[in-house]
Amino acid sequence: MPAPHPALQRLADAYAAWWIDLLGEHNHVGGLETTRWLLQRAGLAPGKVMLDAGAFVGAAARLAAAETGCRAIAADLNPEFLAAGRELPGGRAVQWVAADSRRLPFRDAAIDSIWALDTEVAYHEFNRIAAPGATLCLCCEAPSDARGGLDAFIDDWEQAGWLLAAHRPLSAEAAHTWRTAEAELVRRRPYFEERYGTRTYLRQLDLVAYLVQAYERGEQGHALFVFRRA
Ligand SMILES: C[S@@+](CC[C@H](N)C(=O)[O-])C[C@H]1O[C@@H](n2cnc3c(N)ncnc32)[C@H](O)[C@@H]1O
Repeated sequence: MPAPHPALQRLADAYAAWWIDLLGEHNHVGGLETTRWLLQRAGLAPGKVMLDAGAFVGAAARLAAAETGCRAIAADLNPEFLAAGRELPGGRAVQWVAADSRRLPFRDAAIDSIWALDTEVAYHEFNRIAAPGATLCLCCEAPSDARGGLDAFIDDWEQAGWLLAAHRPLSAEAAHTWRTAEAELVRRRPYFEERYGTRTYLRQLDLVAYLVQAYERGEQGHALFVFRRA
């Protein structure tokens, strides 16, 4: 595996967080491959505005700006993540905004494509800032049962004026991602325990173990969605 960019390595060193250490810059289930799957369906082009909400280091925003020529904005609660993202390849082409996804500093109907990848899905704000015809690209927890939960999830968005354009189940991939992370934390325990401290290490391991169990029991699922504003 290539060494991480120094800006990303600095973040990994500063934060005791399994998800920074083990998932990398495309910090969601499926990584770069699922970012690309969404990008192919997002309807982005020069002149369009894309918002990567809860962006971490803005991997999706940087890729969207580089590959479609759109105006890309990366927003996150944590300004240190944004500062690192600006240093990563393509970072100069993106606008970086420290903001909570639940209170976004954008005008009504200002955004053509809203992305929320494994982060807060801020239902009311996303409805407010979406332009007519906008896309909403989600990588998120979604009901995995066959008893109507997924249909209800999609219905909620459709009732808010979003039509489903594409859907890809990701529960098996998510379960594999969490299992791999758990195994890695256990296998390299001395390394992570030294970096995080014992209490934080055990807490991180608990969090991942909880995820593994929830996905294995089928209580939780994951999916990609692209909705289009009617
Ligand atoms: C697992 S990372 C996913 C990052 C990115 N979307 C990606 O896929 O690479 C979650 C990110 O969401 C951010 N976050 C969590 N809650 C947020 C909120 N309410 N508003 C803005 N950012 C948030 C965290 O700071 C973190 O950077």
